[in-house]
Amino acid sequence: MGSRRSFLRSWSSPLSLFVVVVALAASSADGFKAPRVPCYFIFGDSLYDSGNNNNLNTSVKVNYSPYGIDFPAGPTGRFSNGRTAADIIVTKMIHFFGYAGETLGFKDFIPPFASNPDDRQILVGVNYASGSAGILVESGKQGGDNVDLNKQLRNHKVTVSRIVKKLGSKKAAFEHLGQCLYICNMGNNDYINNYILPQSTAIRSQYNPAQFAALLIARYSAQINRMYELGARKVALAGISNIGCTPSLIATVGTNGAPCVTSVNQLVAPFNIGLKSLISQLKSAHPDAKFGYLDTINAFKCFFFLSVFAAFKVKTTPCCQVSTVTGLCLPNTVPCSQRRSYLFWDAFHPTELANRLGAPILFPVIQRIL
Ligand SMILES: *[C@@H]1O[C@H](CO)[C@@H](O)[C@H](O)[C@H]1NC(C)=O
Repeated sequence: MGSRRSFLRSWSSPLSLFVVVVALAASSADGFKAPRVPCYFIFGDSLYDSGNNNNLNTSVKVNYSPYGIDFPAGPTGRFSNGRTAADIIVTKMIHFFGYAGETLGFKDFIPPFASNPDDRQILVGVNYASGSAGILVESGKQGGDNVDLNKQLRNHKVTVSRIVKKLGSKKAAFEHLGQCLYICNMGNNDYINNYILPQSTAIRSQYNPAQFAALLIARYSAQINRMYELGARKVALAGISNIGCTPSLIATVGTNGAPCVTSVNQLVAPFNIGLKSLISQLKSAHPDAKFGYLDTINAFKCFFFLSVFAAFKVKTTPCCQVSTVTGLCLPNTVPCSQRRSYLFWDAFHPTELANRLGAPILFPVIQRIL
C-alpha cells in the first residue's frame, strides 16, 4: 500500500505548509520567548496527565517502565517516553533548527494534584489531568476509575480555597489566579472510550454524531464557565486531534487502505467546529478574559512536515510493544531505540519528539492569551 508515502501525502496541503512555515518564522523571530506567567493550571486527559492516575484503581495508568525512559525522573505516570505537550510549553523546547529557548520559564514541572502539592507549589500551579477522563463523567470508566473534568474542577476548587487562605483574601487570590495560564485538553475519551466503543450502542442510538458533539460542547461550556468563576482569565482549549490516525484505531477499526480511519476523523470534526464557536461565545460573554484554540490537528501535521524537512523517516507504528487490550506499553519491555523517528510512543500517545515538533503551532496561541 506504500503506506508511508500515502500517509505523508494525505497530510500535505499547501495551506498546512503555509501554516507551518509562518509558525516557524513567527516563533524563531522571538525565540519562543513569552512573557512569564506566575502560574499554570492544567486540565485534561492522558495527553497531559503527569501522575494523577497512579493511585487509582484503573488499568489506564503508566507509572512503570518503559514509560518515562527519556524523562529526567523516569516513569512518573506520563503517557509518553518523555515530556507531554503540557510540559513542553513550560520548560525548554528544542527548536527545529536546534535552538533551545525558554518558553514560559518555569523551573519545575507542574505537580499533579494527586501528589498533594504544598502551599508554595499550588501558587505556581497544579496539574489535574487524568488518563481516560472525559467531559462526560461516564467516559473511560470502563477501564476503571479516573478524574473526569467535573471532578478536576472540584479538585481545583480545593486549590482555590487554599490560595484564598494563603493570600489572605478572595480578592488577592483572584488577582493572582487571573494572571495564570489555564490549559485544557478534553473530548478525546468521550469518543475513544465512550461513543465509539462497540458496547456503547445505547448512547449511539440516543445521539447521532452531530447531537453527541452538541451534548459534549454544552457540558464543556458549563465546565469552562465554572473554570472562569473560579478565577481563570487566560484559557487555552485544545481541539481533538486526528484520533483516527492512532495505531490503536487503525488496528482495531481498519482503514481500507487509507492512511487513517477516515470515518473516525469525520466523526470528531463537529466537536472541533463546536469548540471554536464555544470559544467565540466565551470571548463575548467574558470580555475580561482571553480564550484560545489549540489546533492539535495542525500540530500533528506539523510533525510530518518537519520530519520531511529533517529527512528522517517517520514511523507511525508504536515505538513500544503494546498490549492489544489497552494499547499501552507492556511493562518492562524494551522500546524502539530510534525514538526520534516515531510519532507514536504507544498505540494512542505521541512521543516527546512529536509533542515538541507540534509546539510551534500551539505556542503562539498561548503567547496571544498571556
Ligand atoms: C478495582 O476495580 C475492579 C473492577 O472495577 C473491582 O472489581 C475491584 O474490586 C476494585 N478494587 C478495589 C481495591 O477497589
